[in-house]
Amino acid sequence: MSHADDRSFRHGGMLVRVAADSRSVCLRAAELIEEAIRRALAARGRAVLGLATGSTPEVVYRRLVERHEAGALSFRDVTTYNLDEYYPISPLDPRSYRSYMHRHLFGRVDIAPHRAHLLDGTVPEPFAAEHAAQFERWIAADGGLDLQLLGIGRNGHIGFNEPSEVSIAEALRLPTRLVELHPVTRADAARDFGSEESVIPRALTMGVATILAARSIVILATGAHKAEVVAAALTGPMTAKIPASLLQSVAPKVTWILDEAAARGLSHYRFADR
Ligand code: PGA
Repeated sequence: MSHADDRSFRHGGMLVRVAADSRSVCLRAAELIEEAIRRALAARGRAVLGLATGSTPEVVYRRLVERHEAGALSFRDVTTYNLDEYYPISPLDPRSYRSYMHRHLFGRVDIAPHRAHLLDGTVPEPFAAEHAAQFERWIAADGGLDLQLLGIGRNGHIGFNEPSEVSIAEALRLPTRLVELHPVTRADAARDFGSEESVIPRALTMGVATILAARSIVILATGAHKAEVVAAALTGPMTAKIPASLLQSVAPKVTWILDEAAARGLSHYRFADR
């Protein structure tokens, strides 16, 4: 498939691709995932993906399902780990990310159920830290993530690693853990929960360190409401206040895929590449 409409450039060592619209962003992301699966299968006979939820990836999963239905893509030898899950929540709750993944991907492709991992929103709180550490051990035992798919929150979060005041060194070490959601995250989740007050205020999230350890990272952003945070994360200083800016620390393995609206804050895009 050609991407005549894509523009791409590097910023701080990270690859930035700008596609015409949100659908093109998602199709491009699905292609990168498919390529990562093929490469990993050829090299090791298995592929390990880190997956994301939210509104942006829905079309990515739809495309992967289409490829599967066309007989072009199998998940038989694919293992997945999702970024995050609300806490506490039942996997049967339609608002859980387990349920989202089942609806959009797992229930529609040939992935083995025991290879599709999410953090468990039902684990008793005294065991949450051990569960999070175990999740990381499973990823390590599977050989690490070949590709981690990410969205970016309006506040710059990746997974549910929310803005904080910690030092960069500390932020880069953040492990998988139980966290409190940031007010902006709660406001944005209100559409799934009916109101901001009903949003489950805590979550289990893969840590910054866990995410940055992936062999490649693909981060998607679409829409004008993401333009400001995308520009800050890509071109501003690294800071724990904008967790996505921490991707700069592993720049060569990071690909941003943006639509034109989300890229609007990037001077490269406005002036250099047009
Ligand atoms: P969205 O979420 O795709 O629903 O905008 C992105 C995120 O919060 O990571």
